[in-house]
Parts: sequence; structure tokens; C-alpha cells
Amino acid sequence: TRDRSEALRTPIVAVLGHVDHGKTSLLDKIRGSAVSEGEAGAITQHIGATAVPLDTISGIAGSLVDPDDFDLPGLLFIDTPGHHSFSTLRSRGGALADIAVLVVDVNDGFQPQTEEAIDILKRTGTPFIVAANKIDTTPGWNPQDGEPIQVTYDSQSDRARSRLDENLYEIIGQLSDSGFSADLYWRVQDFQANVGVVPVSAVTGEGVPDLLTVLMGLSQRYMKDQMAIDVEGPGAGTVLEVKEEKGFGTTLDVVMYDGTIREGDEIVVGGMHEPIVTEVRALLQPKPLAEIRTEKRFDRVDSVAAAAGVKIAAPDLEDAMAGAPVRVIRDRDREAVIADVESE
Ligand code: GTP
Ligand code: MG
Repeated sequence: TRDRSEALRTPIVAVLGHVDHGKTSLLDKIRGSAVSEGEAGAITQHIGATAVPLDTISGIAGSLVDPDDFDLPGLLFIDTPGHHSFSTLRSRGGALADIAVLVVDVNDGFQPQTEEAIDILKRTGTPFIVAANKIDTTPGWNPQDGEPIQVTYDSQSDRARSRLDENLYEIIGQLSDSGFSADLYWRVQDFQANVGVVPVSAVTGEGVPDLLTVLMGLSQRYMKDQMAIDVEGPGAGTVLEVKEEKGFGTTLDVVMYDGTIREGDEIVVGGMHEPIVTEVRALLQPKPLAEIRTEKRFDRVDSVAAAAGVKIAAPDLEDAMAGAPVRVIRDRDREAVIADVESE
């Protein structure tokens, strides 16, 4: 029997790639485009994540995305750091993701943390696409702000276009060396067998409509079944970071991928030595971008439903670990939940 609260949750998209290849800029561009679409309020900044609703995606992608073709609610992006020292965090992000975007600087091609990200994606079996970023730096480029790649391609000189193509085929070759058959995304028929490469610019926004369209299409096509959750069920998530927060002590930045977590819930969190059983004192979300400079950096919320990023304040979190599972006990057997967390 289907639970009445069953719903399709937002797919979690990890953005991975080498340092400075443009992961954060790409997310900034998506946020910025939403603002210029008059949808500033639509995009919500979560802890460690950015939620982009379907309507906003459709606004940015224009004719490429008809919202009527989709029933997934949007995409939840997790940014990850490219610097080599953050390998744990990348690994967490990769493991948590339903799907990933591997950002590769089109001039630099594969670099050490690109390879590392590929290994994470292989290990976790996460489907991914490649965003070949910074196409606007191609010599002789004639930028077409925010346009789909076909439009922008048609506006380039033969010279600029063939320079870009050379770089793109270099990346396709590097993917092939890593064991992935890949091609420019519009040539890919079966995204389960081939990795699609999407040329983009995080500065001009060119190709961003394509990137969102491909991500939405892939999620809808291959991940819809996995997205069906009992939204009101006891929440489950993964710790991205353990942080000290003034006035709250040790807190957890968590991405929830199942159910709901509420203030006052008893939770089990993976710890350094043993699972921690504690009670949620506060659930915190960052203030909207416009208010970020105010004294209080967070808003308190009563509950959070997956998929979402949230900061959890609770006693006894000192021994919690990045990457650890978080489980709400609620009406479940406490010992069973503890055993669950212990075995993860
Ligand atoms: P880490 O978080 O440190 O791993 O880097 P990142 O991948 O998030 O890169 P970030 O977005 O911080 O961009 C690095 C630099 O590249 C910045 O100076 C950006 O302005 C620049 N940059 C990113 N994307 C583009 C692009 O599409 N075109 C151009 N011209 N510059 C870009
Ligand atoms: Mg960054």
C-alpha cells in the first residue's frame, strides 16, 4: 500500500572537479540567472546546498525544458571544494549524490582532482555528465549571454569553433582513457552507456540551459523510481561537515535524502567511537542572500523534508564525523536504528 505522504523528492546533484575549474561559479551563475528571471526567492540557499525548483530551471532553460514533461520537483546542488586537501568532503558529496556534474576547464582538461572525482564516481556508481567549462576563453569567442549551446555555436567563427572542438575532443579522449565512452551530449542516445559532455561558460551562462536540461532529463528518465520517498517518514541524511557555531556549540551540516527531521526529534549520528544518540535542539537554515550580513546568520525552522541541506544543533555532537549517517528514531526501534548507524 502506498503511503499518503509518498512523494518524489529532489535529486541530489554533486558538483565535482579540480580546483578553480569553476564549480562555484557555475552555481553562482544559476543563482544569478534565477535572480534576473525575477525568481530570486525561488532559489533557496541551504546548508552546503542550493535548491533550484523546476519552474526556475524551466525559466533559465527556456524552450529546452517544458515543466509539463517533468514531475520531479527540481534539483538540489551540492558544491564541493576542488583543493586536494578536501578529498573526504568530495568523497562524501560524491557518495551522497544521485547524479553528478564533473566540471572540467576546457583549456586545462583533466587534472589530479578531476581524476580523483572520476574514481569517486566509479566507486560509488554515480551517473554523471561533464560540464566543459570556460568556453568563453576560447580565442576569438563571440559570447552569447545565457544562450543554449546551439545558438552560441552558430554565432562563432569557424576558427573559434574548431579551437573549442579540439579542446572538447581532448576531454572526450581523456574520459575514454578513464574507461568512459563519451561524446558531446547532443550526440548521446543512451546516457547510461555514454557520458554526455556539455560545453558551458559560468561567466556568460552559455550552455547553462543545456546543462540544466540534461540533468533534469537524466533524473526524470533514470532516477524517478529512486526518488519516491515517504516524505513524512523518519529522516535520514549524511553529515557533510561538523562545525562550531557561536551560540549553538558543535553543529552538523547535513544533507537529508529521506523523510523529515523535526525539532525535538531523537536522532542517532555516527561518532568517532560509537553512535551518538541525542535530541535535535534546533534546525537552522541560512538567511536569504539579501540578509546574510545581519547579526543572526540563521533562521530556525521546525522541520525539514528531504532532499535538503540543514544545520543541526544538538548536545553531545563533539565526536560526530563528516560522512557519518544521521537517522531520526521517532517511531522506530531505537536499538535497531543504532545498529543501522553502526554498520554504515
Ligand atoms: P574550488 O572551489 O577552489 O575548487 O574552485 P571552483 O571550481 O569552485 O572555481 P571557481 O568557481 O571559484 O572559479 C575559479 C576562477 O575561474 C574564478 O576566478 C572564476 O571567475 C573563473 N571562472 C570560472 N568559470 C569561468 C568561466 O566559465 N569563464 C571564465 N572566463 N572564467 C571562469
Ligand atoms: Mg568552489
